[in-house]
Amino acid sequence: MKIIKAKKEHAKLLYEIESIVFCGDAFALSQASITYHLKHNTFFIAYENGIALGYILWLERKSYFRLYSLAVLPEHRDKKVGSFLLEYSFKNLTCKTFSLEVKQSNEKAINLYKKFGFEVAKNLKAYYEDSDGYLMKREF
Ligand SMILES: CC(C)(COP(=O)(O)OP(=O)(O)OC[C@H]1O[C@@H](n2cnc3c(N)ncnc32)[C@H](O)[C@@H]1OP(=O)(O)O)[C@@H](O)C(=O)NCCC(=O)NCCS
Repeated sequence: MKIIKAKKEHAKLLYEIESIVFCGDAFALSQASITYHLKHNTFFIAYENGIALGYILWLERKSYFRLYSLAVLPEHRDKKVGSFLLEYSFKNLTCKTFSLEVKQSNEKAINLYKKFGFEVAKNLKAYYEDSDGYLMKREF
């Protein structure tokens, strides 16, 4: 598996992944938001044999990085792509603190984040239209 830092020419590919993974989700990124984030924030894309498997998007804040989105295409799940994207991020983003928000119903993502040292920092009541959320932090 190989990871690359996305550039503006990857906007269409990222939008295709987004549309499949977050189809119908109110938080799904539009093509315009993806273009904005490509300019101002950090996307990493995971590839295998030239095929894109998924991406991770980090927003850089003053003293931490916020995981804004993590998406693995359905046919490539449970093969450690999400783990690989997280591991690569922690090695390559120069920061000690990371945060994220996740739906309380997303057991799989929560388990994945816990595996990488994230802990629940706050209960976010009605954060999503269909679920409460958790604020999770990794501080070490
Ligand atoms: C969440 C997501 C990114 C995980 O990607 P992935 O490549 O399948 O994940 P990995 O194979 O690296 O991670 C597997 C880990 O998830 C957890 N997990 C896997 N299947 C699970 C299940 N059915 N129930 C609970 N936890 C599960 C485990 O901690 C597992 O680690 P382990 O195999 O070492 O036990 C992917 O499922 C996805 O894109 N989902 C839709 C979008 C989404 O929910 N994004 C996160 C928004 S915050």
